[in-house]
Amino acid sequence: MHNRLYFNMDNQKRDDIFQKIVLEQNRIGYYNLPNENINHILEFADNFDKKIETIAILGIGGSSLGSKAIYEFLKPTNKLIRKLLFFESTDPLNILSILNNINLDKTHFLVISKSGETIETISIFKYIFSQKPDSKNYTFITAKGSNLDKFAKDLGSKLFYLPDNVGGRFSVLSVVGLVPLALSGVNIKSLLVGANKINIAFFNKKRIYSQLIDKAIFYASNHERYRINCIFAYLESLKYFTEWFVQLWGESLGKKQRHSACNVGLTPIGLIGPKDQHSFLQLIMEGKRDKSVTFIKIKDFKSNLKVPNIKLSNLEALDIVNNIPFSKLINMQCNSVKEALLALKEIPIDEIVISKVDAKSIGELIYYYELLTSLIGELLDINTYNQDGVEAGKTILKGKLMKY
Ligand code: PA5
Repeated sequence: MHNRLYFNMDNQKRDDIFQKIVLEQNRIGYYNLPNENINHILEFADNFDKKIETIAILGIGGSSLGSKAIYEFLKPTNKLIRKLLFFESTDPLNILSILNNINLDKTHFLVISKSGETIETISIFKYIFSQKPDSKNYTFITAKGSNLDKFAKDLGSKLFYLPDNVGGRFSVLSVVGLVPLALSGVNIKSLLVGANKINIAFFNKKRIYSQLIDKAIFYASNHERYRINCIFAYLESLKYFTEWFVQLWGESLGKKQRHSACNVGLTPIGLIGPKDQHSFLQLIMEGKRDKSVTFIKIKDFKSNLKVPNIKLSNLEALDIVNNIPFSKLINMQCNSVKEALLALKEIPIDEIVISKVDAKSIGELIYYYELLTSLIGELLDINTYNQDGVEAGKTILKGKLMKY
């Protein structure tokens, strides 16, 4: 992964924030995940029932978005052995449409909830469990001591525990993401190798160190001016990565400051090129100058697919695309939009180049964004790891349900 940046900060600023993040490592668990022992997960996946073809995940937010992002990124080009499906919504039509498309006898359910009491996850679980009340069809991933932990123990199902100091949206490289991904056949060792590459480079102050810190300082010091941050990814299968990014950024960085009465936040937007060139791009080009853009592109698509060298009557003007590999065309499109934005000189942009569509690359990208989020959170003087803002709605819902 290569990140080309257009910002440069001074060394004192870099050192200050770096020291804070070094200290944070002692209490925030996700920093160490790339170095965790994963043998128990690999063994579980190796010995898993071969007749199971589908793994259905019951989880929401940090309990589903990370594994979905990685699975969907890899699915088009990597040979995976099992399908992952995601029950993330109480939408009854969605629940039934997923269920109608699976063979329950060949499906295993992973119930993932750190708190063990998320309404969406437990309601959907109740429905599925009422159809298939057999302990061996379920594996639970939760925090030790949660009510779901107690339930799963009583049921006698397989259990994995998520460390207390790993928050939901930072948990993709823990059992929360690794168990489903390993079952689907993703090379989770390579995923962690990628994440660890960024981890080592950052904490040893290699090139990515200054790139990440400069970017974080830029975002934090301009959070009022460039308050909307777009990822513009030129790969269809990064769509779910952008959803993961939206949750990570939104839930981590929209907060009240620790030492002031101010509410701050950066607004994440996920865009996919070239599709969103025909949609959101106009707003970036001519709308309010409050957005930054990070382009993500793929260096090697490993594809020879070309636009055929044929002439179509009345469409001769478009013969300029003849013989062009689609992989080249899409990156030319990305570069053209980038140049158009650069010419305006008012919109901060940077570019991340992913070498290829594999587990190591997405591991790098995930860890890069987790670190970036932590750095910005510290610079904004907020608690990056709580999400008190979502509690009020949950409490009101519980009151309504009790009256129902
Ligand atoms: O990042 C977070 O902490 C949240 O988005 C949670 O992941 C989400 O609310 C689901 O919570 P739980 O895993 O407890 O069911």
